[in-house]
Parts: sequence; C-alpha cells; structure tokens
Amino acid sequence: MSDTKAEFGIVGLGVMGRNLAVNVAEHGFSVAGFDRNAHKVQALRDEAAGRTAFGAESTAALVESLAPPRKLLMMVAAGAPVEALIADLAPRLAPGDLLIDGGNSYFRDTDRRAAELAKRGIHYIGVGISGGESGARHGPSIMPGGPPEAYAAVQPILEAVAAKVDGEPCVVWLGPGSAGHYVKMTHNGIEYALMQLIAETYDVMKRGLGLDNDRLADTYAAWNRGETAGFLLEITAEVFRKADAKTGGRLIDLIRDYAKQKGTGMWTAQDAMELRAAIPVIDMAVAMRDLSSAKEQRVRAEAALPTGDRGIPAGEREAIAAALPHALFGAMLGVYAQGLALLGQASTAYGYGLQLAEVARIWRGGCIIRAAVLERIRAAYRRAPDLPNLLLDPEFGAAALAARPALLQVGFAAARAGLPTPALLASLSYFDAYRSGWLPANLIQAQRDFFGAHTYERLDAEGVFHTNWEEG
Ligand code: 6PG
Repeated sequence: MSDTKAEFGIVGLGVMGRNLAVNVAEHGFSVAGFDRNAHKVQALRDEAAGRTAFGAESTAALVESLAPPRKLLMMVAAGAPVEALIADLAPRLAPGDLLIDGGNSYFRDTDRRAAELAKRGIHYIGVGISGGESGARHGPSIMPGGPPEAYAAVQPILEAVAAKVDGEPCVVWLGPGSAGHYVKMTHNGIEYALMQLIAETYDVMKRGLGLDNDRLADTYAAWNRGETAGFLLEITAEVFRKADAKTGGRLIDLIRDYAKQKGTGMWTAQDAMELRAAIPVIDMAVAMRDLSSAKEQRVRAEAALPTGDRGIPAGEREAIAAALPHALFGAMLGVYAQGLALLGQASTAYGYGLQLAEVARIWRGGCIIRAAVLERIRAAYRRAPDLPNLLLDPEFGAAALAARPALLQVGFAAARAGLPTPALLASLSYFDAYRSGWLPANLIQAQRDFFGAHTYERLDAEGVFHTNWEEG
C-alpha cells in the first residue's frame, strides 16, 4: 500500500461504507478506508481479503494514501458528523481534489459546503445513495449532483458499483449543486408515502378482513407479481413470514406500533411547501409517523371514543380484497406523480436542469422505491420531458383513472369501518382535485378579501379588486 496510491477513499466504515468499499474493490478499483473505530477498519481488512481494499490508520494517512486528484467519499451521518469531518479533511486536501458526501444530507447544507470548499479549489459532490446495506454491497442507486467535470472523474467508479437494469447503471449526473441530495430527499419522501400506503392496506386486511400473517405474506407476494410490483412489496411479504427467534411467534406482532424517522420525509414536505408544490400523500405519510408516535394518547382516545371492531361486513370482504391491489396501485401512481412534479418545480427554482426520465431510469434498480411502474414513468417523461405532472400523460392518466373506482371502494369501506386510510384517501382526493378545472378557491379569495382586504382577481377583468363586503 505504501508505494501504490489508492484510486478511491472512503471515510466512515459502518455497514454501508464498508460494503461500498468492498463493492468498489470488487470492480477492480483500489480503495482505502478509514473509520474512527479501529474495529471497523479491521473489519474492512478482513472482508477485503484478496481484494484491493486497504484500511488506513487516520484521516491524514487516508488522504496521504490516495492518488491525486483525490477522490474521497464520506459515509457518515448527516448533520454535525459531516460538518466535523469536512473541517478535519479540508485542510488536508489540495485544489482539484474531490470530496463526496454519500449520506442523506440536507440539500441546503450541501450547497453551503460546496460554496465554502470551492473557495479552496476543492470539488464537492453531494450524492444520494439508496439501497441499504445490500444495495451498497451489490449495487445501489446513486444520485450525484455537483460540478459536472468533477463528476466525470468518479463516473467510471460509480457506474461500475451501481445497480444495473437492462445493462444500464442506475447512476447519472443529475445537475449542479445539491441536485443529487434533492433527488435523494424526494426519493425518501416517496419512500415514506409508499410505506404508509402499504401499511394502510395491511390494516385493512388485518383488522378489516381478518387475514392472518400467512395470508398477508401470500397476498403481498402476489401483489409483487402484478402492476404494483416493487422492492417494498417484496420485503413486506417477507416481513409477515419472519419468525421471532425469542418466542417462535411472528416477529411483526411483537413490534411496537410507532414509527421513527430521521427527517428526510419531513424535509421533503417542508420544501414542497416552500415551493408551493402539492404533495399531500407525502405530507400525510409524515403526519402519520408523527401520529403513530403519540401512542399513549391514541390508547386513551380509543377507550374514550370507541368504534366497532373495525371489521368490514362479511358480504363485502371478497370485493374489498379484490379491489385492494388496484387501490394501492392507483394511490402509488399519485405518489410518484406528486414526487416527480415536486422535482420538476425544484429543478426550475434551484436551477438543477433535472431530466425526469433519467431520474425514473436510475430509480428502476438498487433503491428502496424501485418498482415496475418506474419503467412506465420513464416512458412518459421520454414522450414529454417537460410534463408538469404525470397525470397529464395519456397512458399514466388512464391508469390512474382506471384505478380510481377501487381506491374509492376501499377508502369508503375502510372509513365506514373506522379503519384509518388517510394516505389512500389523500391520493384519491389529490387525483380528483388535480383533474378539477374549477376549485372552490374563489370562495377563499372572497373570504380573505372580506376579513383582511387581501384583494381578489376577477374572471372578467385584469388587475386586483377589493370590495367592502359588509356595505349594504
Ligand atoms: C435508502 C433509505 C435510507 C434511509 C432510511 C431511513 O434510500 O436507502 O431511504 O437512506 O436512511 O430508509 O429513513 P427514516 O429513518 O427517515 O425512515
């Protein structure tokens, strides 16, 4: 290692960082890794046996071991750890070197860090990496943004390690600045919404239809062979089969019913609101994680405000079971439409120049939201790259319209039984609002003008108007 310099460096050898290092080495690139925890460095050495992956003793030694211009990937938690690592690394790097942030950093932090490092001549690349531990090892979806000439220097390595679909690597330079982290944040927003939708179908089937874990597993496995096919359904089927090592029962029944979050879904919702982009199913998914964590209040409210047993009447069960996968599919279409429309708006606002067909292409493999429908989404954006919303694509819109009766049927039956399906219903209402050429917002304009003289616009004249609404 002393006389040969490594082509790629990784700081942060948690499971993701270490698996990526092994993945990079497996593709014939020499890689050096460092972690503050010496056991993790040793784990890389052990795992790397026979491959060109080396463990370094310190950040200084790591930087020293890299061939210039250095290409160094940080795989540490977003926020303070990234900040501290940059402070440590930046003085050790030289102009022309490349520092890559592969975590879920907030996109505005990425822009700020890139501007600060650019003053020293260091290129900063914000990269979203999706696919968890297994993706890192066997091929993640990689979402890079930053200076295009800097990306070109790491392109061969990222293309080699990324997931492949039909021989195409699931990575592409997305745009300048924080484009990569913005796309990854939105990916996670979509991830939250899809998970919430699947969880709602679980509730309908468990409490509404009385299905046991084996039937649930079989059902999700079957849905994973249909139009809803995708990674999240695949793992959902497996979750219901998993036995608990301690009790021998099913593990799912022993897991507490509140969901944690690290913040990327919330950021998606927050920034969409800043941009005035409507993504109600993603908003609802974040809200439902929040509501899920208010466990104690929910238990009190259940006692105080009882519903029935939440069972769907026996005579309707077969029809609801048949409608459910179509309802889920329709709601999924709404989620992808909202997420990609947000990316379109963000691209304009932040100057990313995103090609949405390419975003859909690199999401087809490796990442958590990979699903068969992304092929159709890619085709829609290839037909019309500037499409403001997928629902305006004739084929995609027709699919959403065809799924609407099932979504209505499930949402209605669930609501009547007292089963909460807020994300399914938000998707239904979004679809109906988006395809409504008239909305009752004229009343909202009138109310604002009535109580606050905020003015309104008229259909029959240009300009803004104010009326004294209380005048006789
Ligand atoms: C991925 C995931 C991943 C994310 C987790 C947890 O694409 O591999 O999105 O990046 O960290 O899924 O997210 P929450 O803790 O916010 O649920």
